[in-house]
Amino acid sequence: MTNTDASNPTMRAWTIDRYGDMIHLAELPRPQPGPGDILIRMTGAEVGDWDDLVRKGEWPMERQFPLILGLAGSGNVASVGRGVTRFKNDDPVYSYSYPLYDNGAWAEYMLVPESYAAKPPPVLELTRAGAVPIAGLTAHETLVDILEVKKHEVVLITAASGGVGHLAVQMARHLGAHVVATVGRPHVDFVSELGAETVIDYTTQDVRQAIHAKYPNGVDKILNGVASEAANQYVSVLAGGGVLLDLPGTIIATRPDVRIIKDYVVRGDGVRLQAVSDLIDAGVLRLEIDEIFPFDRAPDALNKVLDKHVRGKVAIKIR
Ligand SMILES: NC(=O)c1ccc[n+]([C@@H]2O[C@H](COP(=O)([O-])OP(=O)(O)OC[C@H]3O[C@@H](n4cnc5c(N)ncnc54)[C@H](OP(=O)(O)O)[C@@H]3O)[C@@H](O)[C@H]2O)c1
Repeated sequence: MTNTDASNPTMRAWTIDRYGDMIHLAELPRPQPGPGDILIRMTGAEVGDWDDLVRKGEWPMERQFPLILGLAGSGNVASVGRGVTRFKNDDPVYSYSYPLYDNGAWAEYMLVPESYAAKPPPVLELTRAGAVPIAGLTAHETLVDILEVKKHEVVLITAASGGVGHLAVQMARHLGAHVVATVGRPHVDFVSELGAETVIDYTTQDVRQAIHAKYPNGVDKILNGVASEAANQYVSVLAGGGVLLDLPGTIIATRPDVRIIKDYVVRGDGVRLQAVSDLIDAGVLRLEIDEIFPFDRAPDALNKVLDKHVRGKVAIKIR
């Protein structure tokens, strides 16, 4: 149980004591907001395969142990630090905490800088909103600012039914692109309904042939979310001068006439997250939730995303 002694407040959190550890529940001191910080009393938390990279020590960030898993989520403001102007106690809020604060979402409280936080979309129940930040920020920044997707461009989105992918399909469609998506058979209709013009079932079709049959010149931009060796084939379907952003950063194929970006890392950004909220509220982006796990089953939530076949997002309900 959480210690409610206000002079020595603690919280329950999912932690590891060393890289590679199994995650376990621990009772830890509740963080205190410094200048510019907000302390969030957590309601929901986002889950992604990146949480396992953190667990294994494969995401190169300086972390202290015991390390609290989880990087993003939602809740209500519990207290604010000096100089905070945009939020007050009890306000609903959601945020991604990296790089300034790199732990804490799978916990009863999480500390973030005010500048990383935004108002969650009112149309979303707060637990569900907690599943949005990393996927939403990634889809928005990569398509709008890095790939600079424009009207009538042909954009390939792989892992299109997953957490980032299902939002990216809708975002690219909203930007006026012709969206080509790769998914497994169970997700073909889902991704079509989200706005993909061409959906390729990578389990039964030759992706390269299918794309060249419809777009003989290749595609203009690619947002790749597939971490397997199979992702190397996507390089060959880019039109000359095209750009591929490789989210897992594992593609090794090269081509002199295209640009391949492998060093992208999503960062906390309250202004961008507010833009994502506005798009969700306007009905431009629809959030799909595969499953919400209770707080005590956080390890099952992590295993679920590691299956690699989720439809939309997985979340943890904290309260
Ligand atoms: N660099 C960054 O800052 C950054 C930010 C966000 C995410 N990422 C990375 O981007 C990747 C995607 O993230 P995510 O959260 O969207 O993942 P996710 O939700 O776990 O993606 C699952 C999807 O991957 C699809 N998939 C699995 N194997 C596939 C294959 N061989 N070919 C095509 N699709 C396949 C599945 O499709 P089916 O079930 O339909 O088969 C499923 O819909 C992850 O590696 C993540 O770590 C990086």
